[in-house]
Amino acid sequence: MKTWMLANRKTKETYERDRFFEEADELGIDFTVVYADEVDLIVSRDDRRSIRYQNEIVSLPDVLLARTGSATGNYNLSVLRQFERLNVPTLPNSDAIIAAKDKMYANQILAQAGLPIPKTMLTRFPSNSDLVEKQVGFPCVVKVVTGSHGAGVYLCEDKKQFNDLSELISALDFKNSMIVQEYVQFSEGRDLRVIVIGGRVAGAMLRQSTDGSFKANISRGGKGLAYDVDEKMEQEKTRNTKSKQRRKRITRFFCNLKDLQ
Ligand SMILES: Nc1ncnc2c1ncn2[C@@H]1O[C@H](COP(=O)(O)OP(=O)(O)OP(=O)(O)O)[C@@H](O)[C@H]1O
Ligand SMILES: [Mg+2]
Repeated sequence: MKTWMLANRKTKETYERDRFFEEADELGIDFTVVYADEVDLIVSRDDRRSIRYQNEIVSLPDVLLARTGSATGNYNLSVLRQFERLNVPTLPNSDAIIAAKDKMYANQILAQAGLPIPKTMLTRFPSNSDLVEKQVGFPCVVKVVTGSHGAGVYLCEDKKQFNDLSELISALDFKNSMIVQEYVQFSEGRDLRVIVIGGRVAGAMLRQSTDGSFKANISRGGKGLAYDVDEKMEQEKTRNTKSKQRRKRITRFFCNLKDLQ
């Protein structure tokens, strides 16, 4: 079996990549890491020859894993779509990446699927703190729309802090929208990552911060613990994936721990 992993050349984290190499080696999988800037796409009717890798026409992989991160840009998405057109399974696929890289869009999908999510508001700064108080309440979490590793995720304890932050962001002339989200107090410092592949829960990881931070990200020093998949989680997942018919997708969603326990 021939597997390609579309990776981000700039990333300094090699743990995932190394683990994929180890497992592929053990399973006898022909595993290659490719970068989008080595791939040329030619859109034509002659589909089988429409992808060139390192200036050569090569045989297509059986599967393409996308590990390009939350900053996945249009070029990587175009590469993925080309493989999808050629019926090469891509994991996650381009639609899933588009949903995951926009935290507002991801929450809209989850809410529409009936999943419990923290109340989420899209705003620009300066933001109306009265409206935030009324709709979301304090404390609240302010987030950039696209980001990972917990960067750009900030806990505002009260209205005064929110107004200070609002003033600061406005002074920086930051024009992008940001997210203001209800703070899930009972889940402080921990969250649950549920991996859904092809409509099935493949596993889950409970992440726990170790330094008293409300953020559980492992890249910030949090620890990850295996979490047993139970019936409740399966039901949540089924609601999520069935309603959207999102087979072949990998979905990671923020679960309301209280609902799952
Ligand atoms: N509304 C919330 N209430 C309580 N804690 C939260 C909330 N939103 C985020 N957190 C905490 O902050 C952490 C980082 O938030 P978030 O997952 O949005 O960031 P991220 O940059 O997308 O992280 P990752 O790269 O792990 O996906 C979460 O793991 C969770 O522990
Ligand atoms: Mg995230």
